[in-house]
Amino acid sequence: MLWVQIGLCLNMSCSNFLEGNLENQIDFLQKIFKEHFPRIPFPSQVREQDLVSILGYLVRHLDPLMSLSKQVSAMQNEQLEEIRKLLQTAYVSGHGIELESASQGHACISSEERNEAKSRGADLLFGELIVEGVDRALDVLHLCAADAKVFCDLGMGLGKFAMQAFFQFPNIEKAIGIEMARSRFKLGVDALRRLAQDLPDEFTLEINDEDSVILWDRKGRSLEFRCGDLFDCTDGVEQADVLICETHFSSEIMSKLISFLEKMKPSSRVLTFENLSNHVKETPLQFEQLAVNVEWEDRFPTTWNKTGHHFFLWKKK
Ligand SMILES: C[S@@+](CC[C@H](N)C(=O)[O-])C[C@H]1O[C@@H](n2cnc3c(N)ncnc32)[C@H](O)[C@@H]1O
Repeated sequence: MLWVQIGLCLNMSCSNFLEGNLENQIDFLQKIFKEHFPRIPFPSQVREQDLVSILGYLVRHLDPLMSLSKQVSAMQNEQLEEIRKLLQTAYVSGHGIELESASQGHACISSEERNEAKSRGADLLFGELIVEGVDRALDVLHLCAADAKVFCDLGMGLGKFAMQAFFQFPNIEKAIGIEMARSRFKLGVDALRRLAQDLPDEFTLEINDEDSVILWDRKGRSLEFRCGDLFDCTDGVEQADVLICETHFSSEIMSKLISFLEKMKPSSRVLTFENLSNHVKETPLQFEQLAVNVEWEDRFPTTWNKTGHHFFLWKKK
């Protein structure tokens, strides 16, 4: 238990620790020593170069936890192996789209597309949660996709997040992703097409029209990619148990977004890029932030920050 406490304490404070000034760093280490190694006197004089030796002492004593942490990440990797394979079939083997990089999602956008989005008040800013980030966001401590029937991604990009949710959680009966940039939507549709082509015993493709394509599995579950403005996805917002809105909006659009999200069902969960509570409306916010997400250390690995970006996770009241 001691190791767990110190390990958590060190891990959670690591970024603060590295950014802090010497005085705070010494203060932090002194507290750990006082609490966990009361019989070892903390040195009265500590220079900057001594910090590494002191950390080294802690790390050596943390060894049991370090090996536990390696085992846990190996277990997590094993669990995600199947999902990675399916995403690779869909995205990588078809178009060489990398799972850990957003470069193709950036490169496909034309200036006309960007200008058109701007004229509609939208921002095509791009970046994705990577496989580990999606896994963490949807886990039982966070958005709890394990009890969701309907999942929706507003601003799906290439659709990787929605596809991972669909594959990782067989309880999800219906997943919808909507994207305004047609070039990104098309890359997503190519991925659906490839799955249906390569795994014909498992999936079939339904092409409704140029704005909607659905992948069906043998159990009648559906993964639909739509091209359009997320504000038109009322059915997705009203039905979703878990909603993703990892999308940037100008502050003028934020109150429109909040009113739109207020159509969600009670107790459904949503991830947002923006902090909803920074955009106060006349009426009180109908979302409470998940307790696990209040700390800035609650981060999710993304294409632009592999150690994790802090998104905001809410439960509809
Ligand atoms: C940051 S990406 C998120 C990709 C993916 N959901 C993820 O989290 O990994 C946000 C996406 O939202 C799209 N977008 C922005 N405004 C939109 C709107 N009004 N309607 C639909 N899509 C929009 C952008 O083009 C971009 O692809």
